[in-house]
Amino acid sequence: MSAVLAAESAPVAKPLASPIAAVLLGTGVVGGAFLKLLNTPAAASIRLVGAANSRRQQTRAEHLADRALREKLKSHGDMRDDAALLAALDANEALVKVIVDATACGTLASRHAEWLGRGYHVVTANKSLAGGDLAGWRALQAALAQGGRYGDSATVGAGLPVISTLRRLRHCGDALLTLEGVFSGSLSYLFNQYDGSQPFSVLLRRARELGYTEPDPRSDLSGEDVARKLLILARCAGFALRPDEVEVESLVPESLRGVDLETFLARLEELDEPLAARFAEAKARGGALRFLARLNQRGRARVGLVEVPANHPATRLYGTDNQFAFSTTRYNTQPLVIQGPGAGPEVTAQALLGDVLALA
Ligand SMILES: NC(=O)c1ccc[n+]([C@@H]2O[C@H](COP(=O)([O-])OP(=O)(O)OC[C@H]3O[C@@H](n4cnc5c(N)ncnc54)[C@H](OP(=O)(O)O)[C@@H]3O)[C@@H](O)[C@H]2O)c1
Repeated sequence: MSAVLAAESAPVAKPLASPIAAVLLGTGVVGGAFLKLLNTPAAASIRLVGAANSRRQQTRAEHLADRALREKLKSHGDMRDDAALLAALDANEALVKVIVDATACGTLASRHAEWLGRGYHVVTANKSLAGGDLAGWRALQAALAQGGRYGDSATVGAGLPVISTLRRLRHCGDALLTLEGVFSGSLSYLFNQYDGSQPFSVLLRRARELGYTEPDPRSDLSGEDVARKLLILARCAGFALRPDEVEVESLVPESLRGVDLETFLARLEELDEPLAARFAEAKARGGALRFLARLNQRGRARVGLVEVPANHPATRLYGTDNQFAFSTTRYNTQPLVIQGPGAGPEVTAQALLGDVLALA
């Protein structure tokens, strides 16, 4: 075993009074990867004092230290009760108390501002608040103005330094002129692969089997997740947009939006013809199709399928890579481009960890 692997798998002794006490909400794909990172030396300053899935939670130290915590929470533990998790944070002597939200739960996200107001920090992969309705976002800004800290790196681009870069540019007096990119790993994969040689539905089935799409691929194809990310970035850039101000082109035909998942999967071929026609038109003009998010200088935001020239930066993506191209007053001849894996449990959990460590 290499030295690095040995270090990663060895139990890490936590100091009795760790500088950071954390509660983890969500022990799914990302939360599970975060739990693994907590057992690495990099996280030695963090003490986990509570963890929960949607139905159960654990606050007892001996159970939280169990490597099988994630599995055990599926059948053992106390019933869900946010108050008991917050009480576990309160009972800890740590100076920094943080709630890590690794869920997609809107109800939990709607409590972030309240938690910040009560003196806890929040670190989140959950986009529902920062990318949700304007009132919620404004409540978040108001809570942050009172001094809480909100780690939101993982909400856009997974582990890529997208939000932090945008904030840093603005902090230095730079202003965003345009933002353009591919913000979805699954849509990146689908259009990187789609060359007309096989039906789109075949690629979509493969992407689903590979775990690149959500179990219900309409969550990806609707463009709504990309729209939420664009909304978060637009707001970071100074445009306090409402969700309905982001124009979204869904790739899900009207007739397939209301049907159950099984029916949708059985009728995937209905996606093929319209996309094949658009692909053929683009190809005839020497172009390619990419699912892009765009924001312009006036705050106009759009998400949808775009015909791009063959030499467009988005045509040089691989696999499920994301791309974020910022044109700013200072990056105005060539955009500043951030590109790389924009999904995946390890990199997303690492973004959460980075935000938690930055609190100390
Ligand atoms: N997967 C990625 O690559 C990725 C990348 C960037 C961002 N994200 C974001 O990260 C978040 C988590 O994604 P994921 O892929 O880990 O999802 P997931 O595997 O479906 O896990 C979600 C977890 O949240 C739990 N949960 C739901 N409601 C809860 C509640 N009220 N209280 C406590 N726990 C609750 C679920 O509990 P049960 O197990 O009981 O259902 C589950 O453990 C999402 O917001 C996602 O958009 C994911």
